[in-house]
Amino acid sequence: MNPSLQECYDGFADTYDANRGLFDMGPVFEDFWQRLARRDGDALDLGCGAGEPFAKNFIERGWRVTGVDFSARMLQLAERYVPEMRRIHADMATVSFAPESFDAVTAVYSLFHLPRAQHAALFGNIRSWLRPGGKLLFTYASRHYTGAETFDGHMEFMGRPLYYSHDTLQHLRGILADAGFGIEDEAWREIGGETFLWVTAK
Ligand SMILES: C[S@@+](CC[C@H](N)C(=O)[O-])C[C@H]1O[C@@H](n2cnc3c(N)ncnc32)[C@H](O)[C@@H]1O
Repeated sequence: MNPSLQECYDGFADTYDANRGLFDMGPVFEDFWQRLARRDGDALDLGCGAGEPFAKNFIERGWRVTGVDFSARMLQLAERYVPEMRRIHADMATVSFAPESFDAVTAVYSLFHLPRAQHAALFGNIRSWLRPGGKLLFTYASRHYTGAETFDGHMEFMGRPLYYSHDTLQHLRGILADAGFGIEDEAWREIGGETFLWVTAK
């Protein structure tokens, strides 16, 4: 039986230090930062892991950040690296916040771990948590990563079978529109030999 995703990420926490800062995510953060209307605000990082790099970047620029992750071990690392981040140990599919709580929401390399049937409901929630003018940035898997038009299954990552899912880009655009989002930018980025779609929605 495959280990749960939570167990896998708890395990990755042990080797996190060895891979820390391996890839320069600065340009990705900077691109999103330039798109935000505010220079002070509240950010939510879904699947925040150790709080790097996104939560940390926001905090260094004076924002208040809430991080959600269902791996207790990853949140322990976050406590060490980004102690200023408010940490919530929860599943992003079930966590809830008051309407209009955030100016920016990010889901960096994390949304693709949720079953694709749950994406539409999560986008609806995120839309309600964002304040007027707020923006969402997330990484989306596609056939570039899985080799299939739609996917629900396991792929090997750092020697472990991790669950991933995605739908077609046409479907993704549809559920974003249904949730009330307009797509501001779609960028294919190859980082660390893996290509994902980075979507900014407003
Ligand atoms: C590849 S890591 C990315 C961490 C961080 N965002 C980064 O860019 O380094 C994915 C993270 O998402 C978390 N995660 C995956 N599915 C989740 C879920 N349903 N709810 C909360 N966290 C989840 C994992 O525990 C892990 O820390």
